[in-house]
Amino acid sequence: MSSPDSRPRGKNTVLTFREMKREGRPIVAMTAYDHLFARLLHESGVDLLLVGDSLGQVVLGLPSTLPVTLDQMIHHAAAVRRGAPDAFVVLDMPFLTYQVSPAEALRNAGRAMQETGVDAVKVEGGGARVVEAVGRIVDAGIPVMGHVGLTPQSVHALGGYKVQGRGPEAAERVLKEALALEAAGCFSVVLELLPASLSRTVTDALSIPTIGIGAGPDCDGQVLVAYDALGLNERFAPRFLKRFAQLAEEVRSGVSTYVAEVRSGAYPSAEHSFEDEA
Ligand code: KIV
Repeated sequence: MSSPDSRPRGKNTVLTFREMKREGRPIVAMTAYDHLFARLLHESGVDLLLVGDSLGQVVLGLPSTLPVTLDQMIHHAAAVRRGAPDAFVVLDMPFLTYQVSPAEALRNAGRAMQETGVDAVKVEGGGARVVEAVGRIVDAGIPVMGHVGLTPQSVHALGGYKVQGRGPEAAERVLKEALALEAAGCFSVVLELLPASLSRTVTDALSIPTIGIGAGPDCDGQVLVAYDALGLNERFAPRFLKRFAQLAEEVRSGVSTYVAEVRSGAYPSAEHSFEDEA
């Protein structure tokens, strides 16, 4: 399989993403939660698979990412790793697995790495506690992706899923957090729901790549939740989202045909049945 720029593809590493930023090649990331999607996304040229804690809403039907547990993340990340052994896979550390203390953050990140075989972990926020935890995890040799702007694990403190970084003070805070995450050793930072001009400023200020979601075109890469981008999750339609396929319609159409054919007796036909002898 070759990437869209048709260079041969080895396994991506943290160095690949730095090089992509330096060369101005956009990094394409997508969420994956199971082995089949992981395989399809990797085969289609996605550079980085994120096992997001959006798992909670997208797959488990939970109201937010807050109830997602490390056990659930490990279960799904291990499946993603099995589906795409050569992909660069990032596991999103769930709520309260890295905020309590740096030692606990390292223990949990280490467990995530050991039990799944992922390549990196992701944490949300750029405050002092998270930055300290990042430093501890990175010191142990585990690559960490940061995440600033709209950080869904803090949805209650932020007052909803709103664009962040509007106004000079809020913008300054986002920039400071991103710089602190870089200084602590993050290999990249997700920028979520930010004004495009702020994302540009942050991207220019950092030497590590920024991966945007709802953060405009000037990030070093983009990430989307696969089920949203492929039109499986029709109820989620934020302004930043583009649907690149209409899978919900395809699913309904295929399932309706199956229902009709079973009811009419058209399926299974002789072609789909076995006889006593071959
Ligand atoms: O959990 C997730 O899917 C994420 C992405 C939206 C970046 O954190």
